Amino acid sequence: MPETTLEMQGVRVDFAAPQGRIEVLKGIDFQAYSKERIGIVGSSGAGKTTFMMVAAGLEQPSSGSVQVAGQSLSRLDERAMTRLRSDHIGIVFQSFHLIASMTALENVMIPLEFAGISNADIKARDMLAEVGLQHRFDHYPSQLSGGEQQRVALARAVVRAPKLLLADEPTGNLDEENGAMIIDTLFALSEEKGTTLLLITHDHAIAERCGRRVLMRDGVLQDMA
Ligand SMILES: Nc1ncnc2c1ncn2[C@@H]1O[C@H](COP(=O)(O)OP(=O)(O)OP(=O)(O)O)[C@@H](O)[C@H]1O
Ligand SMILES: [Mg+2]
Repeated sequence: MPETTLEMQGVRVDFAAPQGRIEVLKGIDFQAYSKERIGIVGSSGAGKTTFMMVAAGLEQPSSGSVQVAGQSLSRLDERAMTRLRSDHIGIVFQSFHLIASMTALENVMIPLEFAGISNADIKARDMLAEVGLQHRFDHYPSQLSGGEQQRVALARAVVRAPKLLLADEPTGNLDEENGAMIIDTLFALSEEKGTTLLLITHDHAIAERCGRRVLMRDGVLQDMA
């Protein structure tokens, strides 16, 4: 049996809204296995980002359980959760989320330095070179194109070879050419690092390139043919 990277059982999330509580995730049972590449599609507001935030431990489920890399998230205190995220989870957002006051190199060094890994600068340089940015080490995010910023974000997300890589519409702010380059790089890196990839996309052609596709519909997740 392959190792389970992410497991959810009966996950519900509800939020307080002016008109009362709204249920966003309505009982998610889901397993992602080691090295799987899973495309997540579904209409706007269906709950895809919420699902990803729960998987990353950034949103607490109202009920149900979540395990990442064999650890039950509800049992972890803040410190242990941060550690788990640092060791095993990489995240890429639509809007890059780089630290504006840090260079490309410094951004990629963050997860390495946080983990106390030696030669962080050499490793970060290698990683940036791998995404084709060997000529942009000392550029700040504002001096980079959208596609370049996303490549930095990708380098930062995978530099520690996380077990779980979460990507939420990573091409949403890019043109077609840069988007295609990011997807190719995302797939290549997740394969090389042996990472389980969960990719949220509204682009069915991209989802088609994933080994498994799931549909989020009104807070319920179902496998697609
Ligand atoms: N913090 C919050 N408080 C209240 N409601 C929220 C909160 N976060 C999300 N929601 C609601 O939960 C629902 C699902 O949101 P979510 O962002 O998960 O959707 P999505 O599938 O990612 O949509 P999109 O494709 O537009 O990104 C939406 O109706 C949203 O308004
Ligand atoms: Mg979303």
